[in-house]
Amino acid sequence: MELVEPSDRYRKSFEEALVEFGSEIIPGAYALLSCSTVDEYLERVRKDARGEDLPEGFVPSTTYWLIEDGEYIGHVNIRHRLTPALERLGAHIGYAIRPSRRQKGYGTQMLRMALEKARQLGIERVLITCNKENVASRTVIEKNGGVFWDEIEVEGRPVPTMRFWIENK
Ligand SMILES: CC(C)(COP(=O)(O)OP(=O)(O)OC[C@H]1O[C@@H](n2cnc3c(N)ncnc32)[C@H](O)[C@@H]1OP(=O)(O)O)[C@@H](O)C(=O)NCCC(=O)NCCS
Repeated sequence: MELVEPSDRYRKSFEEALVEFGSEIIPGAYALLSCSTVDEYLERVRKDARGEDLPEGFVPSTTYWLIEDGEYIGHVNIRHRLTPALERLGAHIGYAIRPSRRQKGYGTQMLRMALEKARQLGIERVLITCNKENVASRTVIEKNGGVFWDEIEVEGRPVPTMRFWIENK
Protein backbone atom coordinates (compact mmCIF):
# COMPACT_ATOMS: atom_id res chain seq x y z
CA MET A 1 0.00 0.00 0.00
CA GLU A 2 1.39 3.39 -0.92
CA LEU A 3 0.55 7.07 -1.25
CA VAL A 4 1.19 8.26 -4.79
CA GLU A 5 0.55 11.41 -6.75
CA PRO A 6 -2.74 11.16 -8.66
CA SER A 7 -2.06 9.61 -12.01
CA ASP A 8 -3.75 8.47 -15.16
CA ARG A 9 -2.39 5.01 -14.35
CA TYR A 10 -5.12 4.51 -11.73
CA ARG A 11 -7.88 6.25 -13.66
CA LYS A 12 -10.19 3.23 -14.04
CA SER A 13 -10.45 2.47 -10.32
CA PHE A 14 -10.67 6.20 -9.54
CA GLU A 15 -13.62 6.55 -11.90
CA GLU A 16 -15.28 3.50 -10.34
CA ALA A 17 -14.77 5.07 -6.92
CA LEU A 18 -16.40 8.31 -8.09
CA VAL A 19 -19.50 6.30 -8.97
CA GLU A 20 -19.42 4.78 -5.47
CA PHE A 21 -19.10 8.22 -3.84
CA GLY A 22 -22.21 9.24 -5.79
CA SER A 23 -23.64 12.45 -4.38
CA GLU A 24 -21.53 12.35 -1.18
CA ILE A 25 -19.56 15.48 -0.45
CA ILE A 26 -15.98 14.22 -0.79
CA PRO A 27 -13.57 15.83 1.69
CA GLY A 28 -10.11 16.51 0.28
CA ALA A 29 -11.33 16.74 -3.29
CA TYR A 30 -12.69 20.26 -3.68
CA ALA A 31 -11.28 20.37 -7.22
CA LEU A 32 -13.74 17.71 -8.34
CA LEU A 33 -16.51 20.30 -8.03
CA SER A 34 -14.92 22.60 -10.56
CA CYS A 35 -13.60 20.01 -13.03
CA SER A 36 -15.73 18.26 -15.58
CA THR A 37 -13.26 15.52 -16.56
CA VAL A 38 -10.69 13.39 -14.74
CA ASP A 39 -7.97 14.87 -16.98
CA GLU A 40 -8.90 18.34 -15.83
CA TYR A 41 -8.88 17.16 -12.22
CA LEU A 42 -5.42 15.60 -12.57
CA GLU A 43 -4.11 18.86 -14.01
CA ARG A 44 -5.81 20.85 -11.25
CA VAL A 45 -4.22 18.85 -8.42
CA ARG A 46 -0.80 19.21 -10.05
CA LYS A 47 -1.29 22.97 -10.15
CA ASP A 48 -2.57 23.02 -6.56
CA ALA A 49 0.66 21.42 -5.38
CA ARG A 50 2.69 24.05 -7.21
CA GLY A 51 0.41 26.84 -6.05
CA GLU A 52 -0.57 27.80 -9.61
CA ASP A 53 -3.86 29.49 -10.53
CA LEU A 54 -5.32 28.89 -7.09
CA PRO A 55 -8.87 29.98 -6.38
CA GLU A 56 -9.10 33.14 -4.27
CA GLY A 57 -8.08 32.49 -0.66
CA PHE A 58 -6.69 29.01 -1.35
CA VAL A 59 -3.19 27.91 -0.34
CA PRO A 60 -1.03 25.30 -2.12
CA SER A 61 -2.04 21.73 -1.32
CA THR A 62 -0.79 18.29 -2.25
CA THR A 63 -3.10 15.40 -3.06
CA TYR A 64 -2.08 11.75 -2.76
CA TRP A 65 -3.99 8.65 -3.69
CA LEU A 66 -3.83 5.56 -1.51
CA ILE A 67 -3.10 2.68 -3.87
CA GLU A 68 -3.23 -1.03 -3.15
CA ASP A 69 -2.73 -3.72 -5.79
CA GLY A 70 -2.80 -1.04 -8.47
CA GLU A 71 -6.19 0.30 -7.37
CA TYR A 72 -7.36 3.60 -5.93
CA ILE A 73 -8.59 3.11 -2.35
CA GLY A 74 -8.84 6.71 -1.14
CA HIS A 75 -7.18 10.10 -1.19
CA VAL A 76 -5.77 12.72 1.10
CA ASN A 77 -5.21 16.43 0.53
CA ILE A 78 -2.56 18.25 2.57
CA ARG A 79 -2.79 22.03 2.74
CA HIS A 80 0.68 23.52 3.08
CA ARG A 81 -0.35 26.15 5.58
CA LEU A 82 -3.38 27.37 7.47
CA THR A 83 -5.50 30.45 6.83
CA PRO A 84 -8.14 31.83 9.21
CA ALA A 85 -10.77 30.04 7.09
CA LEU A 86 -8.92 26.70 7.13
CA GLU A 87 -8.48 27.01 10.89
CA ARG A 88 -12.24 26.82 11.19
CA LEU A 89 -13.01 24.30 8.49
CA GLY A 90 -10.83 22.01 6.42
CA ALA A 91 -7.65 22.51 8.42
CA HIS A 92 -4.39 20.92 7.21
CA ILE A 93 -5.64 17.56 5.99
CA GLY A 94 -8.82 16.32 4.31
CA TYR A 95 -9.39 12.71 3.30
CA ALA A 96 -11.81 10.06 2.17
CA ILE A 97 -11.84 6.31 1.60
CA ARG A 98 -14.03 4.98 -1.20
CA PRO A 99 -17.27 3.59 0.24
CA SER A 100 -16.61 -0.07 -0.67
CA ARG A 101 -13.32 -0.05 1.28
CA ARG A 102 -14.42 1.59 4.52
CA GLN A 103 -14.14 0.06 7.98
CA LYS A 104 -11.12 -2.04 7.01
CA GLY A 105 -8.44 0.13 8.59
CA TYR A 106 -7.46 2.06 5.45
CA GLY A 107 -8.48 5.46 6.82
CA THR A 108 -6.28 5.04 9.88
CA GLN A 109 -3.32 3.89 7.83
CA MET A 110 -3.77 6.58 5.19
CA LEU A 111 -3.72 9.37 7.76
CA ARG A 112 -0.59 7.85 9.34
CA MET A 113 1.13 7.90 5.93
CA ALA A 114 -0.16 11.42 5.23
CA LEU A 115 1.36 12.68 8.48
CA GLU A 116 4.75 11.54 7.20
CA LYS A 117 4.17 13.52 3.98
CA ALA A 118 3.10 16.53 6.06
CA ARG A 119 6.32 16.22 8.06
CA GLN A 120 8.26 16.35 4.80
CA LEU A 121 6.42 19.57 4.01
CA GLY A 122 7.58 20.95 7.36
CA ILE A 123 4.20 20.82 9.10
CA GLU A 124 5.18 20.05 12.67
CA ARG A 125 1.76 20.52 14.22
CA VAL A 126 -1.19 19.32 12.20
CA LEU A 127 -4.71 20.66 12.63
CA ILE A 128 -7.57 18.39 11.61
CA THR A 129 -11.27 19.09 11.87
CA CYS A 130 -14.28 16.86 11.67
CA ASN A 131 -18.01 17.08 12.02
CA LYS A 132 -19.02 16.09 15.57
CA GLU A 133 -21.22 13.28 14.25
CA ASN A 134 -18.45 11.78 12.10
CA VAL A 135 -17.44 9.00 14.49
CA ALA A 136 -15.29 7.24 11.88
CA SER A 137 -13.19 10.31 11.14
CA ARG A 138 -12.87 11.20 14.80
CA THR A 139 -11.62 7.68 15.55
CA VAL A 140 -9.11 7.85 12.69
CA ILE A 141 -7.80 11.18 14.04
CA GLU A 142 -7.54 9.95 17.63
CA LYS A 143 -5.80 6.73 16.56
CA ASN A 144 -3.18 8.95 14.96
CA GLY A 145 -2.51 10.91 18.11
CA GLY A 146 -5.08 13.66 17.63
CA VAL A 147 -5.69 15.67 20.78
CA PHE A 148 -9.07 17.36 21.08
CA TRP A 149 -8.73 21.16 21.04
CA ASP A 150 -12.25 22.52 20.89
CA GLU A 151 -15.65 22.44 19.32
CA ILE A 152 -16.90 25.33 17.22
CA GLU A 153 -19.97 26.38 15.29
CA VAL A 154 -19.27 27.01 11.61
CA GLU A 155 -21.66 29.09 9.54
CA GLY A 156 -23.80 26.92 7.30
CA ARG A 157 -22.95 23.72 9.19
CA PRO A 158 -25.80 22.36 11.29
CA VAL A 159 -23.47 20.11 13.31
CA PRO A 160 -20.58 21.48 15.43
CA THR A 161 -17.04 21.04 14.10
CA MET A 162 -14.43 19.40 16.34
CA ARG A 163 -10.80 20.47 16.07
CA PHE A 164 -7.80 18.29 16.90
CA TRP A 165 -4.03 18.88 16.93
CA ILE A 166 -1.48 16.21 16.12
CA GLU A 167 2.15 16.78 17.14
CA ASN A 168 4.11 15.84 14.04
CA LYS A 169 7.81 16.50 14.71
C1 LIG B 1 -13.66 8.78 7.77
C2 LIG B 1 -13.17 7.67 6.85
C3 LIG B 1 -11.98 8.20 6.04
C4 LIG B 1 -12.70 6.50 7.73
O1 LIG B 1 -12.09 5.55 6.88
P1 LIG B 1 -12.11 3.99 7.24
O2 LIG B 1 -11.16 3.33 6.30
O3 LIG B 1 -13.50 3.51 7.27
O4 LIG B 1 -11.52 4.02 8.72
P2 LIG B 1 -10.92 2.79 9.52
O5 LIG B 1 -11.36 1.49 8.91
O6 LIG B 1 -9.47 3.02 9.69
O7 LIG B 1 -11.70 2.95 10.88
C5 LIG B 1 -11.17 3.63 11.95
C6 LIG B 1 -12.02 3.40 13.16
O8 LIG B 1 -13.28 4.04 12.99
C7 LIG B 1 -14.31 3.10 13.20
N1 LIG B 1 -15.33 3.37 12.25
C8 LIG B 1 -15.21 3.35 10.91
N2 LIG B 1 -16.37 3.65 10.34
C9 LIG B 1 -17.25 3.86 11.36
C10 LIG B 1 -18.60 4.23 11.41
N3 LIG B 1 -19.30 4.46 10.29
N4 LIG B 1 -19.17 4.37 12.63
C11 LIG B 1 -18.47 4.17 13.75
N5 LIG B 1 -17.17 3.82 13.77
C12 LIG B 1 -16.58 3.69 12.58
C13 LIG B 1 -13.70 1.76 12.92
O9 LIG B 1 -14.41 0.75 13.60
C14 LIG B 1 -12.32 1.93 13.44
O10 LIG B 1 -12.27 1.80 14.83
P3 LIG B 1 -11.65 0.49 15.51
O11 LIG B 1 -10.29 0.32 14.90
O12 LIG B 1 -11.64 0.86 16.93
O13 LIG B 1 -12.57 -0.60 15.12
C15 LIG B 1 -14.29 7.14 5.91
O14 LIG B 1 -15.37 6.76 6.68
C16 LIG B 1 -14.73 8.16 4.88
O15 LIG B 1 -14.14 8.28 3.80
N6 LIG B 1 -15.78 8.93 5.22
C17 LIG B 1 -16.30 9.98 4.31
C18 LIG B 1 -15.35 11.12 4.17
C19 LIG B 1 -14.98 11.72 5.50
O16 LIG B 1 -15.79 11.79 6.42
N7 LIG B 1 -13.72 12.17 5.62
C20 LIG B 1 -13.21 12.80 6.80
C21 LIG B 1 -13.54 14.24 6.83
S1 LIG B 1 -13.01 14.98 8.36
